[in-house]
Amino acid sequence: VSIRTIAVIWVVFLTILVFFKRRKMDPPSPSGSWPVVGHLLSLGRAPHLKLTEWRKQYGDVYTVRMGMEDVVVLNGYRAIKEALVDYKDAFSSRPNVYVLNLVSGFGEDIVMSPFNQAYKEKRKFAYSALRTLGMRMGPGSMEENIRDEARQLCLKLSEQGDAQPSDITDNLTVSVANIICSMVFGKRYDYDDENFLELSKVANKLVAQLGSSQLMTVFPILRFVPGVNSSNRILVECMEEVHAFLRQEITKHRETMDKENPRDFIDLLLAELETQEKTDCFKEENIEWIIQDLFVAGVETTATTLRWGLLYMVLCPEEQQKVQAELDSVLGADHDVPTLAHRSQLPYTEATIMEIQRIRAIVPLAAPHTPNENTTFRGYDIPAGTQVFPNLWSANMDPEFWPDPEKFDPSRFLDSDGKVVTRPESFMPFSTGRRVCLGEQLAKMELFLLFSSLLKHVTFKLPEGAAAPSTDGCMGITLVPSRINMCISQR
Ligand code: HEM
Repeated sequence: VSIRTIAVIWVVFLTILVFFKRRKMDPPSPSGSWPVVGHLLSLGRAPHLKLTEWRKQYGDVYTVRMGMEDVVVLNGYRAIKEALVDYKDAFSSRPNVYVLNLVSGFGEDIVMSPFNQAYKEKRKFAYSALRTLGMRMGPGSMEENIRDEARQLCLKLSEQGDAQPSDITDNLTVSVANIICSMVFGKRYDYDDENFLELSKVANKLVAQLGSSQLMTVFPILRFVPGVNSSNRILVECMEEVHAFLRQEITKHRETMDKENPRDFIDLLLAELETQEKTDCFKEENIEWIIQDLFVAGVETTATTLRWGLLYMVLCPEEQQKVQAELDSVLGADHDVPTLAHRSQLPYTEATIMEIQRIRAIVPLAAPHTPNENTTFRGYDIPAGTQVFPNLWSANMDPEFWPDPEKFDPSRFLDSDGKVVTRPESFMPFSTGRRVCLGEQLAKMELFLLFSSLLKHVTFKLPEGAAAPSTDGCMGITLVPSRINMCISQR
């Protein structure tokens, strides 16, 4: 037997050994993966539904092939909690995804930052700034800013009148964007302010462009293909415009700020920069990216949740009436918008908002996570850098925790005394663990104040004879409902 033959036998033997060893440790994977595209065709336009369906066959942890890459999917409350909370050190980083790198300055922000010291400092600062601003009382406080926006929104709807059915998506987006503007820049903009409209247009274009660049997140090589890569160019142009606007605002703040009396988020950022410069983790260039995060992560998410809320209110008028009856019984003839102090007296309204967030998790697959180093989870090997999707949808719609999950039923969130259940299991609209949504408290304040103000002042109905709108939604960056024209009558 020649040396060559022995060498070939050895290579074949080792290959078989490696193959079987890896196979055994890899999470299972659904059949039907195609070369180049992997499971993309099977996932279709509603990947959260397909991934949830595959859970029944392949269990709580399995792998799908997205293009040329294996992605681990975590399903159900227990697996997601175990990975993101119990193994938080292992699963708290972000993968290296080309388009996401592009829109985050290669991790200069918070959302897409890899898990490292700089991330911890950026997040810690932003968390405490939101808390500081959230705890202020009286005029100019976050609560008062949101209530002002709620008043403006109700006024806008009353000016519109109830003669013509209309879609209120744009008004909702302006209100929510203005809440972030008040917090970040210390001022709101008029509904027809030219600068603001221009910025909103660019921001919307940016989000839409991100949706259409999704193909490039799966096939980064497409960025070298002339024509296909034009969406990248538009993305970069939009970002440059947004950043130019932010730079102007930051310069104005620097010129006028009083370190002892920070007015808003930018003042707090600038003050922090001076102390952080010593640690070299948090730099001047991070400022624009952190502010961009608050707009990108904080506007569309909250407005979309409210849109789903109104859609379920027109589909379930009896639920709308129950919320309105509760609001009337607590607020009486008071025509002003509710305050946060009313929250504990309005359990049905709170439970309804929670049910809206359960039945339509608007970020069904959260943001992608990744292990910082090779990790073994539930007996499976997950190499560092592998994309990991927490399937939040599978937890929110799990029939084990939520019988008849497609039924809109706010009473699921009430205990036998009619009080709101604190920390319900298998309910994760904001995800969980180290990367849990940074704006969760702010979002909850906004959802409560805007939703309750709208329902106190207005009743939403479908036009006579109109077909019931679909609750499927359209999956882009978030799961958005279709635009619907509603009759809006003053109460
Ligand atoms: C991250 C949901 C509003 C700022 C996230 C994540 C989800 C989420 C699912 C991904 C968590 C993960 O990676 O596991 C929502 C929903 C909102 C909302 C449903 C509204 C209803 C906001 C608001 C802000 C905000 C108002 C800020 C003003 C962020 C940031 C992150 C994040 C900065 C990244 C956190 C990190 O990587 O450390 N959000 N969000 N979000 N959200 Fe929100």
